[in-house]
Amino acid sequence: AVTPKIAPSMLSSDFANLASEAHRMINYGADWLHMDIMDGHFVPNLTMGAPIIESLRKHTKAYLDCHLMVTNPLDYVESLGKAGASGFTFHVEASKDNWKELIQNIKSQGMKPGVAINPGTSVEEVYPLVESENPVEMVLVMTVEPGFGGQKFMPDMMEKVRILRKKYPSLDIEVDGGLGPSTIDAAASAGANCIVAGSSVFGAPEPAQVISLLRNSVEK
Ligand code: DX5
Ligand code: ZN
Repeated sequence: AVTPKIAPSMLSSDFANLASEAHRMINYGADWLHMDIMDGHFVPNLTMGAPIIESLRKHTKAYLDCHLMVTNPLDYVESLGKAGASGFTFHVEASKDNWKELIQNIKSQGMKPGVAINPGTSVEEVYPLVESENPVEMVLVMTVEPGFGGQKFMPDMMEKVRILRKKYPSLDIEVDGGLGPSTIDAAASAGANCIVAGSSVFGAPEPAQVISLLRNSVEK
């Protein structure tokens, strides 16, 4: 069965106080911590990599949901596995030739493999990865162009979520970008169960209330 996973995006946190920001989110009721890894090449922004995951891992046992917005995801698997990442979600646009090898390597590092799709990429591109003998265990449907927090949710992406949910009733389906109290119902009713939320959680006067609102929307 698909259970809700609410994943605050640490991209919206105070990076200079990452451990306390992580503890704060877990205390507010977060299930996962979403870690946006960007290489300044696949997307026009540069964030964090294995050294920061390794540092944060020393301070928390939380599930670290790593979203790799990088051109060569295979180069990051071993270092992130050793650093203590929990999930490793690569982009389908960056893994055309080597997704089988990637999934294999991600699993041998003890991480959960996921695949992400950009707004301009059609949903059919992930079918082979979900239906493979050694499949991905989550699909991340981007609801903004990747690269930055604080952008506007793209409702047209919900059609992808609906198609995936119908095809794969027990798959983890994550949505990322512009999720918050005003957009969660669209995502939840389409069938998303893993909800990434950056600015709507970190920018709220009471983040715990936003996290529980997101969870209640997925559960109903
Ligand atoms: C965007 C990142 C997101 C981002 C979401 O490229 O993948 O995880 O942090 O931030 P919000 O929720 O503010 O759109
Ligand atoms: Zn993300």
